[in-house]
Amino acid sequence: MISFPPPRGVKMNDSRSKVTPSTVLRRVERLRVELDDTDGIRVESLGMRGPSVPRGLQLLQAFSRPTSIQNALDSLSATGTQEWIEMTEAILRWVESGVLHEPGSPVRSVRSGYEGAPVHAVMLNDRARTEGFIRGIEATVRPGNTVVDIGTGSGVLAMAAARAGARHVYAIEASSMAEIAAENVRLNGFADRISILRGQSTDLVLPEKVDVVVTEMIGHHAFGEGLLEIVNDAVRRFGDGETRVVPESIELLGIPLEVPEVDLAAYAASPRAIENWKGWYGFDLAALAGRMPKSCFFVRSEAVAKWRSLASPASLVTVRFPAQTDDGLLEGTARVRIEKPGILNAVAVGMVISTGGGASVSTVPSASHSGSHWLCPVWLPTAPFQVVPGDDAKLDFLYGSGIHGRQGSADASPMVADI
Ligand SMILES: C[S@@+](CC[C@H](N)C(=O)[O-])C[C@H]1O[C@@H](n2cnc3c(N)ncnc32)[C@H](O)[C@@H]1O
Repeated sequence: MISFPPPRGVKMNDSRSKVTPSTVLRRVERLRVELDDTDGIRVESLGMRGPSVPRGLQLLQAFSRPTSIQNALDSLSATGTQEWIEMTEAILRWVESGVLHEPGSPVRSVRSGYEGAPVHAVMLNDRARTEGFIRGIEATVRPGNTVVDIGTGSGVLAMAAARAGARHVYAIEASSMAEIAAENVRLNGFADRISILRGQSTDLVLPEKVDVVVTEMIGHHAFGEGLLEIVNDAVRRFGDGETRVVPESIELLGIPLEVPEVDLAAYAASPRAIENWKGWYGFDLAALAGRMPKSCFFVRSEAVAKWRSLASPASLVTVRFPAQTDDGLLEGTARVRIEKPGILNAVAVGMVISTGGGASVSTVPSASHSGSHWLCPVWLPTAPFQVVPGDDAKLDFLYGSGIHGRQGSADASPMVADI
């Protein structure tokens, strides 16, 4: 029943090393600001916290529209070298944590979790995923097309594109898996039609425009691996204005649940868990249940299917690629008609990935569904509440590439007014 929530790729921010005085930055859109004990300003976005920095309000003001670091420092008129150093350090800390970012460029990251065969074996063993993508590629790639496959990993989708008739496939891979992909490409006789390029797609240029962008960079949090930013960047720079994307779209669905107390205690700081810990260790750890940012845990979808769902899955948001979001923010609200009585204490988020030509891959929990390597994020609402059939509940979804990387959240509340 209980599964560990491993992110599919480990991310480390390397943004600091790329920043120069002429780098143009702006602050992320939605922020909550808090004055801390030492008069520093701490900001919070999407439940994630950035570090406290001095003169933070002036910094936020300076970067409210795109401006270079040099201009911002000039406008802040630092008095003396020490203050100048402190301001520069503050800017770098906020760049590192994502409060400030280069407009239009994805949050920079280095992935190290994809080196080695096991993580790729897990994905390849998810036949519904891999076959769903291959079917989408076969429906989308036309003979003679040029294709870019971003995050080629083992090379499987690049080879599917070549098999579907692509004239040339540029297969980009950031990790050392690039060498393995090249070997697989040779093994299958595609070396003349597939070029393996090692690096981050956002740093590379291609020698020609492509007809199709293929990418399977979908995380347990669907967009958590930078999918929106990476696809948008690829379509803008590698595409010819008519470029098609595999996948075509991703729909997120929310399922209101009543998770049994005993299971909730296994994943969350529920009242029962706190009682258990007090009994086992002799400490009251109740602060964990308090002012925590919205939190979620990850569970296999077949395990979620065993919990009591209080209503049918409700559509939270559908993203068609390239995604229509300039600031990397996605929001959705759904109204669900409750079908069963219970305590609504969790919202699972499943996804339906439309890969093309009517093919799709789903992680929406259901009795018949099993074997997805993707885990379902299960969100804990701000406050659990009692529901009866016929009630309406409101599910809110929010995603953004904000502080400390890319985060989302889902919440549920009783319906108090029409949405
Ligand atoms: C989820 S795996 C998918 C692998 C393969 N396409 C498949 O479907 O089995 C994503 C791969 O993308 C690579 N990756 C992540 N971000 C990247 C980027 N910006 N550019 C190139 N490769 C990237 C990772 O190293 C990883 O191998």
